[in-house]
Amino acid sequence: MKPFGTEFCDHIAIATYADGAWSAPSIEPLAPLPMHPASHVFHYASTCFEGFKAYRWADGKGRIFRLPDHVARMQRSAASLRLPIPDADLLAGMVVDVVHKNIDDIPEPPASLYLRPTLIGTVQNIGAAAAPSPEATLFVLCSPVGDYFAGGAAALKLLVEDQKARTTEQLGSTKTGGNYAAALGPTLDAKEKYGVDQVLFCPNGDVQETGAANFLLISDDEIITKSLDTTFLHGMTRDSILKLGAELGYTISERPFTVDELLEKVKTYEACLSGTAATLSPVGALVYHGKEIPVRDGQPGPNRKKLQTALQNIQYGLEPDTHGWLTEVS
Ligand SMILES: Cc1ncc(COP(=O)(O)O)c(C=O)c1O
Repeated sequence: MKPFGTEFCDHIAIATYADGAWSAPSIEPLAPLPMHPASHVFHYASTCFEGFKAYRWADGKGRIFRLPDHVARMQRSAASLRLPIPDADLLAGMVVDVVHKNIDDIPEPPASLYLRPTLIGTVQNIGAAAAPSPEATLFVLCSPVGDYFAGGAAALKLLVEDQKARTTEQLGSTKTGGNYAAALGPTLDAKEKYGVDQVLFCPNGDVQETGAANFLLISDDEIITKSLDTTFLHGMTRDSILKLGAELGYTISERPFTVDELLEKVKTYEACLSGTAATLSPVGALVYHGKEIPVRDGQPGPNRKKLQTALQNIQYGLEPDTHGWLTEVS
């Protein structure tokens, strides 16, 4: 299988917004989008997207994970960027239809079909820096993706960045391209300078998230992660792990915590990144003020594995979906 995000299904779902209304969505062959060079998105970054997965079950049908929650997050992103907000039924219907169309391309677990709804501002106006785009295109792109952990779940090394933020506070919980652009430079610099995999952004010592994943500390009986606020993306994997963790008997501590506490806790707690792509990735070491600090003994721990398995068993249909997280597509 090709690297994550570089292989695409033959069909996309697409709808456009103009004159105050959405067009009827359609399924189209994958092809370049004709775009005017003055399109708002090119100049003023009026774009947001989602990322989630459909799984193939043994019955040959597809199951989309947490579709209504991802639709709701995309609506919040659109609202914060003052883009036309897709109706929940419209967007969910587009996702279901495009998964149905591409159903034979959903690979067997642990591989899956990654789904990427994207909304862009298309009004032709290069004088609209301070005006929203009243025209938009919404599409859903599908990409078969392999097992993130093929070759083993290697423990990651993170730079603890206690000055810079990943992005601005007003857009932290919006899934928009500019946030990734803001995190890119510091992340590449950290990779080059310290040989780390990612940066854990902790502005003024407040532990937030990495460029594309949430951060959790896990012991045998507790899960600690930052409580929801506008500074970081509200991950669906984070939310799912917290719900499953509570059912497995872990105390869930959603609260702000500092770099000082982080450095103390990693003597005994496992550290993980959570996100759709990797579910729960183990963190083996932190780099702070030039010094490398192991997380416990530096090896992936048993609690990460236990929680990841609980989540994947639901996604792959090995355990009942008691939360109603899956949408069936045949
Ligand atoms: C910045 C950021 N934080 C967290 C996450 C994890 O979110 P989710 O679990 O919904 O994939 C992602 C991934 O989409 C992300 O890009």
